[in-house]
Amino acid sequence: MREMFHRIAPRYDFITSVFSYGMDKRWKQVCVEHAALPANATVLDLASGTGDFSALISERVPNAKTVAVDLTERMLRLARGRGVRYPICADAARLPFASECFDCVLVGYGLRNFKNLNAALREMERVTKRGGMLITLDFFLPVNRVLRALYLGYLYVQGFFWGLVLHGRPRIYTYIPDSLRSFVSIGELSELLRSTGYRTIRACSFLLGGIGLHWAAKE
Ligand SMILES: C[S@@+](CC[C@H](N)C(=O)[O-])C[C@H]1O[C@@H](n2cnc3c(N)ncnc32)[C@H](O)[C@@H]1O
Repeated sequence: MREMFHRIAPRYDFITSVFSYGMDKRWKQVCVEHAALPANATVLDLASGTGDFSALISERVPNAKTVAVDLTERMLRLARGRGVRYPICADAARLPFASECFDCVLVGYGLRNFKNLNAALREMERVTKRGGMLITLDFFLPVNRVLRALYLGYLYVQGFFWGLVLHGRPRIYTYIPDSLRSFVSIGELSELLRSTGYRTIRACSFLLGGIGLHWAAKE
């Protein structure tokens, strides 16, 4: 997984835009707009990749302090190059922070990729302050069977095409539909968050259920 993210890092932003029909930026804005973060908020951008959420928080929340954490050094170098000030290489399942130190944890397309999702959720909960928020954005499979098959087909064809064109490796982006097959549903994620110590305040979907957003508060 790390090796794959290392390879795709320079193309990552382009590919995200392709797979989301150019809507990724808007979904990320929705995540942040509904967070209502206070000025000076401390924010963890977990599985930050090239630091999209970190950059957005810097624009939208005055004096926020955002830490970007990712397992892939090359992603973090790109994040640093666009002005992300605190990039840290670490595993979501073992975060190098004191308990209850973040007002908000943001995870964009990260949960699906974590080897140990439960351990990562426990760590997120540990580092979130009481009353703080967890916000996630990820791919999900639509509930409707026909839509699901079409969506998976679309993701495989796009992945195959761009993998071949950009890397000469048709399978490199098919990790997206592959990882979706074993991932939880939007409803199951709300339940998983609840059992970890968060209360889902709001969940919504885009692309007919192919993209899901969750806002959850730590009790
Ligand atoms: C699909 S990218 C998401 C990038 C960014 N958050 C966004 O919204 O575009 C997933 C990122 O998760 C990182 N990642 C995968 N497993 C991880 C883990 N266990 N701990 C921290 N980061 C991880 C990868 O290195 C990759 O940069």
